[in-house]
Amino acid sequence: GKGTYPFYMLKEIDEQPSVMRRLITKYANEDGSMNVDPEIVKAVQDADRIYIIAAGTSYNAGYASKRTLESLTDTPVELGVASEWGYDMPILSEKPFFIYLSQSGETADSRQVLVKTNERKIPSLTVTNVPGSTLSREATYTMLLHAGPEIAVASTKAYTAQIAALTFLAKAVGEANNKSEAFDFDLVKELSIAAQSIEATLSEKELIEEKVNEVIADSRNAFYIGRAEDYYVAMEASLKLKEVSYIQCEGFAAGELKHGTIALIEEGTPVIALISNNPKVSAHTRGNIMEVVARGASVLTVVEESMAKEDDDIIVTEVHPYLAPIAMVIPTQLIAYYASIARGLDVDKPRNLAKAVTVE
Ligand code: F6R
Repeated sequence: GKGTYPFYMLKEIDEQPSVMRRLITKYANEDGSMNVDPEIVKAVQDADRIYIIAAGTSYNAGYASKRTLESLTDTPVELGVASEWGYDMPILSEKPFFIYLSQSGETADSRQVLVKTNERKIPSLTVTNVPGSTLSREATYTMLLHAGPEIAVASTKAYTAQIAALTFLAKAVGEANNKSEAFDFDLVKELSIAAQSIEATLSEKELIEEKVNEVIADSRNAFYIGRAEDYYVAMEASLKLKEVSYIQCEGFAAGELKHGTIALIEEGTPVIALISNNPKVSAHTRGNIMEVVARGASVLTVVEESMAKEDDDIIVTEVHPYLAPIAMVIPTQLIAYYASIARGLDVDKPRNLAKAVTVE
């Protein structure tokens, strides 16, 4: 049950620090070494390209994991929207490995791609929260998310668990390849720090609710902007805001705004800017903030601590760059939740949506 919580979504947001800690116990040994099925590690090692197939939030989690997977496995990662890849698959590499990311393990769009890759005998891994689910049974391998049942239609803890699980896989493959960067990345320590960062954000609920009421709740539309990994988080953040608050929202690569979409910015349009600790891009995102402010936007900034300036709104305590999407998404989950509350909506059961989409 949801206990004292008004909605499952808030309960599930709150569970994320413990989900991160549970994943440490599942995918790392006491001495800090990786505990990932060696057969899965071998299958990834043998591949020349990783294809991640997913829908919705799981698709966004795939993007948020792309850099880490590529850096630690030295293997290119391509994302596929499940509902599109069911028709004509693009030309595949010689030794493809498919990862099906799915909280429910029942998404029909993803399954239709799996049926095709099975016909072609391509090795596959389902990363899912539900043991024994269809995608889990039909793929070659399974990795579980261990996030506990996700009841709210809007996915929160499965997103962060997917990123964490893929990070364990990435490090395990990197170590199997004798990559020093993989050994140097102390994931057990860094994920514990990420859990603490999540807790710190969760203790700022009142501040976040206040900002939402000030800047977002009464708007018809809004934008999330960010660059690099922050862009991927922006896509997830905007999906979450849309589905639970019905505010039309676009997640944008900050630099793309001025190529057209900036025409939509008017007095009071909410723009939420995400700035994690990535010095390569932060100054440019700051520049994009100035551009929208000059056109009247109401800007809310979500900034990782070391990048923060005096006027920033929501500060996220520092985490390892590979885990930045986990830390940065938390304020955006709360933004969506409080926008839904402010509008008096049923947070857990948004209109027109089902928890598992079992039709194509
Ligand atoms: C968004 C949401 C959906 C799912 C999508 C895929 O909050 O819940 O976008 O992420 O339908 O579902 P799974 O992960 O079960 O395959």
